[in-house]
Amino acid sequence: MECKYLTYHGLLLPTISHSEDSLEYFEKFQVKDDDVFAITYPKSGTTWMQEILPLILNGGDFTPVKTIPNWDRVPWLEETRAALVMDKMTQPRLMVSHMPYELMPPSFFSSKAKVIYVARNPKDVVVSSFFFHQMASCLGDPGLFEEFLDKFLAGKVMFGKWTNHVRSWRLTDLGDRILYVTYEDMIEDLKGVVRRFSDFLGQKMSEETLEQVVSHCSFNTMKTNAMSNYSLVPQELMDSKKSAFLRKGISGDWKNHFSPEQEEKFSAAIKDEMRGSNIQFPWDED
Ligand code: A3P
Repeated sequence: MECKYLTYHGLLLPTISHSEDSLEYFEKFQVKDDDVFAITYPKSGTTWMQEILPLILNGGDFTPVKTIPNWDRVPWLEETRAALVMDKMTQPRLMVSHMPYELMPPSFFSSKAKVIYVARNPKDVVVSSFFFHQMASCLGDPGLFEEFLDKFLAGKVMFGKWTNHVRSWRLTDLGDRILYVTYEDMIEDLKGVVRRFSDFLGQKMSEETLEQVVSHCSFNTMKTNAMSNYSLVPQELMDSKKSAFLRKGISGDWKNHFSPEQEEKFSAAIKDEMRGSNIQFPWDED
């Protein structure tokens, strides 16, 4: 299958899910004060957030996560599906986006909409993305891992450089409208993180509901949820025989794929680009 990307403010976006119309819709979108965004660089836990957030906001009603595909349940604001489903959503609306901060629509900045930003160790992001490119034919062949690492570091992948994305969202003036978590926090203590989310969103949750949500959002359960594991996508677009969408769901898988030389080069490049930002991540010392 031919892989196509369009360029938007210098970022490559796959045309399978983005178009000039969808980006115009994104730019003109009227953000409401009670909207909630989960923002991620691709392969950092977006699908996980699309599972967790509806359960928090609707008090543990499992119907939507069991009946509506993740891309319609919590749509990407910049993707083509958004215009089709947004009107049918009830308040508060839940959305995800991979856009960097500065490209968010003007109405976002004047709103009080809340944001949860999930970051993930870029070494695990690039590994996850490499396998995702192998299974998602619409993204194009990633080539050898070594080649893909270079493309990733150069930002010649969808949504550009990881460092630009995290820098843009870590250095905002959103104050208490934004909550920062990492994928690694979620792996380590999902229950604690879900509680932080519900506190941040002002949603009370009983201990029993919290336990149910955490159990439903575990990797193994989500892997069997057809509304979240991408098994509804035709095999010619996403071939789970090559690699499952919910592939490993761990932190530190990069250690199985990077050579010592690759690790050194990658870490130096990321460190260099993060220099002066004062942003620290738990994986910096890995
Ligand atoms: P891996 O490829 O490392 O397994 P995104 O949704 O942003 O595209 O991110 C996909 C990554 O998140 C994949 O990582 C996927 O397995 C992981 N993921 C999704 N749901 C998860 C869960 N419940 N627990 C742990 N990881 C999860």
